[in-house]
Amino acid sequence: MNNRKLGFLVIIGLIFGIFVFSIAYANSIEQEPKPHEPTFVPHEIDSRVGSCSFCHQNAVSGAIVSPHPERLGCSGCHVEE
Ligand code: HEC
Ligand code: HEC
Repeated sequence: MNNRKLGFLVIIGLIFGIFVFSIAYANSIEQEPKPHEPTFVPHEIDSRVGSCSFCHQNAVSGAIVSPHPERLGCSGCHVEE
């Protein structure tokens, strides 16, 4: 194997290494989901402000349990359709 071929292989190896590393890194930062698309609220909001968590932490009348009970100010993100 001449030096040129060896250099070529080293460069390919480096590019591949960076590629694998960046995928691993991207996966590691995706573990904490960032707020991107809050679901629309299919019911009226105004009369329920302040009691969202009551229903959405206890699954009252079939409410979907909130995946993030630590986020307050629900209607700042979740809006009516
Ligand atoms: C009286 C109980 C109750 C209260 C209070 C309440 N919800 Fe709901 N919520 C429900 C139920 C039941 C559903 C299921 C859809 C339906 O039938 O209306 C729902 C659905 C939702 C959904 C859609 C979830 C999905 O994946 O489809 C969102 C978002 C939501 N509510 C947000 C809120 C917010 C924000 C508040 C406060 C302003 C709130 N809810 C207050 C009972 C409640
Ligand atoms: C910072 C913005 C933000 C706040 C504040 C917030 N949410 Fe959410 N919510 C989201 C996003 C974005 C999603 C979609 C899932 C995800 O990516 O976390 C979601 C998902 C949900 C779901 C699940 C919908 C489904 O179909 O699985 C419910 C229920 C919900 N939120 C209820 C609430 C309630 C109740 C509050 C207040 C106590 C609240 N949210 C506060 C952004 C927010």
